[in-house]
Amino acid sequence: MPIVLGIETSCDETGVGVVADGVLLSDALATSMDEHARFGGVVPEIAARAHLHAITPMVRHALDRAGIGIGQIDAVAATAGPGLATAVQVGLAAGKAYALSLGVPFYGVHHLAGHAAVDVLEHGPLPARSVALIVSGGHTSLLLIGDLATEPVIHLGDTLDDAAGEAFDKVARLLGLPYPGGPAIDRVARDGDPGAIAFPRPMTGPADPPYQFSFSGLKTAVARWVEKHHEHPLPIADIAASFQESVADTLTRKALAACRDHQVDTLLLVGGVAANSRVRALAEHRCATAGVRLRVPSVRLCTDNGAMIAALGDLLVRAGVTPDRLDLGADPSAVLDGALLNGHRQKRAR
Ligand code: KG4
Ligand code: ZN
Repeated sequence: MPIVLGIETSCDETGVGVVADGVLLSDALATSMDEHARFGGVVPEIAARAHLHAITPMVRHALDRAGIGIGQIDAVAATAGPGLATAVQVGLAAGKAYALSLGVPFYGVHHLAGHAAVDVLEHGPLPARSVALIVSGGHTSLLLIGDLATEPVIHLGDTLDDAAGEAFDKVARLLGLPYPGGPAIDRVARDGDPGAIAFPRPMTGPADPPYQFSFSGLKTAVARWVEKHHEHPLPIADIAASFQESVADTLTRKALAACRDHQVDTLLLVGGVAANSRVRALAEHRCATAGVRLRVPSVRLCTDNGAMIAALGDLLVRAGVTPDRLDLGADPSAVLDGALLNGHRQKRAR
């Protein structure tokens, strides 16, 4: 049973995971989040330097936790994009170096496919077809997926402007909440009334594209509301709860419509924003009502981590997909096509 080492460094998390045959043996995570907080967002060079410091200790940590030596690793997978260029480079170079020195196959994988793959660790193999809603800090995509390792991903819709996580981060900043904004809004929204302010549900009109998203108007609506109301103190909890409700409503409404329209009975909800308590609760409620099976990873596996990259590497290894060459470059803006960065090669492998 091959053991796969996975490395993730696309943003501010240095994640390492060890997976064999769909089972998570261990993972380790270091974050440079605190170093970025005072800038209100991730500073790429700071993130890259932090990855450089953390990568070897995290690999060692993950191996120790799994109770194995580096010599027992049979394949290595690393995020090759998308992400912050300098940050991706660190993990990609580390992954190649481990693969080269061990003489094992290397896979440069797509970060977003990793978000989807991680669910296999907790809920078993994916069904033949599912709708996946990937909601992260940089992406919001509604997809039709089959076999993640060997089949191309079909985009039903993406965001036209801000990603859902980006909207959380920007609205949090507007409200004076700390970075990262998503968890901060989630926290303060617990004391607020989600019906207090009727923020718009972007792109949900009858003439709007059913599976596309747009969150920049919603962010502006929150900014306008804050400008117009001079209450002291500002009702932060109500604003946060109402904004969060609008995002959760919009995301889940479109995801369920995609399941219905494409006769798919499984919804995969993944990425950092899938950690949001209201998004999870509303998705659960609406899926139960519609008879759709909801698959959502536990909160800690929704945000960036190494287990997701190891999980995807493990799927590729088990499917017998041809590994990457070691001259594979990072692609900071890689479009999601499939598990690997240049998805077409997968078909040749079969
Ligand atoms: O997937 P992820 O860890 O990194 C990217 O690939 O971008 O997602 C990070 C995003 C950030 O925008 C963060 O604010 C958001 O996920 N996030 C949340 C929550 N936890 C993280 N958004 C809403 N509620 C949360 N609990
Ligand atoms: Zn991510």
